[in-house]
Amino acid sequence: MKLLLLIAGATVALCAVPRAPITRDVAVNENDDGSFSLTSDGVYVGTIGRKVGDDSDVTFNVEAAADEASGGFRITVSWDGPSDKIFEDCIDFGDNQWFAGPEQKEQHWPIQNSKLEKYSIISKEADNAAVSERYWLNSAGAYLIVAPEVPLFVDYHNVLDNHLCLIAEVADPYSTRRTHNNLKYDLWFFENAKVAHQHAVDTYLGKPTGIPDYRMIQYPIWSTWARYSREIDQDSLWAFANEIKDSGFPNAQFEIDDLWEVCYGSLFVDVRKLPDLKQLVQDIKSLGFRVAIWTHPFINKDCEPWYSEALGKGYLVLNEEGNPDSTWWNNNGSVPGYIDFTNPEAAEWYSSRIQNLIDTYDIDTIKFDAGESSWSPQIPVQNGLDIDLHPGHIVQSYVRTVAKFGPAIEIRSGMRTQDLPVFIRMVDKDTYWDFNNGLATLVTTLLSMNLNGYTLVLPDMIGGNGYNESPSKELFIRWLQANVFMPTLQYSFVPWDHDDETVEISRRYTHLHADYADTIVAAMEASVKDGTPVNPPIWWLDPNDQDALAVNDEFLLGEKILAAPVMVEGAVSRDVYLPRGNWRDGNTGDLVQGPIWLRDYPAPLDVLPYFTLED
Ligand SMILES: *[C@@H]1O[C@H](CO)[C@@H](O)[C@H](O)[C@H]1NC(C)=O
Repeated sequence: MKLLLLIAGATVALCAVPRAPITRDVAVNENDDGSFSLTSDGVYVGTIGRKVGDDSDVTFNVEAAADEASGGFRITVSWDGPSDKIFEDCIDFGDNQWFAGPEQKEQHWPIQNSKLEKYSIISKEADNAAVSERYWLNSAGAYLIVAPEVPLFVDYHNVLDNHLCLIAEVADPYSTRRTHNNLKYDLWFFENAKVAHQHAVDTYLGKPTGIPDYRMIQYPIWSTWARYSREIDQDSLWAFANEIKDSGFPNAQFEIDDLWEVCYGSLFVDVRKLPDLKQLVQDIKSLGFRVAIWTHPFINKDCEPWYSEALGKGYLVLNEEGNPDSTWWNNNGSVPGYIDFTNPEAAEWYSSRIQNLIDTYDIDTIKFDAGESSWSPQIPVQNGLDIDLHPGHIVQSYVRTVAKFGPAIEIRSGMRTQDLPVFIRMVDKDTYWDFNNGLATLVTTLLSMNLNGYTLVLPDMIGGNGYNESPSKELFIRWLQANVFMPTLQYSFVPWDHDDETVEISRRYTHLHADYADTIVAAMEASVKDGTPVNPPIWWLDPNDQDALAVNDEFLLGEKILAAPVMVEGAVSRDVYLPRGNWRDGNTGDLVQGPIWLRDYPAPLDVLPYFTLED
């Protein structure tokens, strides 16, 4: 094993410049087992160049190169041998809090509280990992970002106790046609997590180029999905629209979800259920709604002639054996194809068919579902870009194709697409209280998406999707409250299916959200300007506050509003942590001086604890 060492104390101090890295004496020292320890100012950071299997005939080149102008470290582990060797570097979680990493169904926060076992970092269906970035940040102000071409897996706590291991291996879901393998990541050290994150935004993650539709920010989307599932028709849509209208609740739009197509992928209406969709859309609009419709990038095999057309023209993704057969949640007994958005002709074909749908029925906007790489037949063959950038290429191609449909769309997948000026929806939540994809994860998913640079977050349906059971009154109200200071509201289960008190409370919080629409817009504008999260974690206000760094059930809107929703079943009070500053209690009007723990803050069912920072 050979070590090529290009660092040691090579950073430079640039104290006057904001977001400047701090001086670190980074060194690499050989261990007894032939691996190398990475230290920063003499403190152990991780172990690099770990041996995996028999590598006696392989030459490692471990380069840790300082970029002297900027102070970051680029660590490259590679060798000249075949691509079937595995690299594994492990970074110590230490006693720091860690943030970012892939979106997860059981979203924990900080993320060192979760376990991952050799987990591919690719936008995928499994575990709701629709947003998947190769970025990890810690409370000590260090962050690492892994190069997009690395066939990356991560492991929390299994390979090495209390470590985040980066594993580069040419294995499923990465193509074995790759001719080489390496592990390459950049490591940066700053004075705290906030400065570090700002630097990561500027250097790697990017920021939105614009803000989404104002009416979606201000007023709720009303979706058919959770309330009706696929049982929609002309009568139920009309009845639902009238119920909403009669309730007096405001709306951004009425969303016609699954199932309106004659067969999946046709983009043609099933006239048995919807004999005159064109007229229905006009009628719903006359009640004061805009109308959105749900679509997806699949074509089921029995959905003819569209499936054969797509297959014949080479518009479906093939796997490396030439097979187009994929799978999704609406297989309907067939094997779907997945449209190959990496083929510009296929993307154009899909877009023109969507445009035709919009034009034919006078639809206002679209909910674009799916987009994760894993829906492709595995291992997918993709067009364009170096094979080392597959299979994430199709995720970007899909969301970039559909983002052209304007600021009122929704997407849900992302890989290096933080720049898109459209809402990105959290993957479907379940109707639970806890971290099993329930209410507790509404806040942690919000924080995770924001700290990955996806700041225009569209939370999922209030009360969850009800796949397990319909939300209770209490869960529904607490879910709405937790959602108030997030960028949008989306109803499908409705307040009036409970009781008058639920309607009254829901009306109040729907209006409270609308009252803050301009504040949300201002936070989004700040995000467009300098990448600030729209909903940061509370440590954003004081990144050295150890209590704030550990909080996972509060969040900010912009830099002046703190929400501390009740998310525990049966609770009528909660502990609230306020970081430093002069806080005005949104419920009582009292002034409170932070930092402070407000123990047992009273919060009966109609109370959402929130606070505003005074100037
Ligand atoms: C589901 O399968 C049936 C039987 O093949 C078919 O008639 C129907 O059109 C399919 N529905 C959709 C929405 O694809």
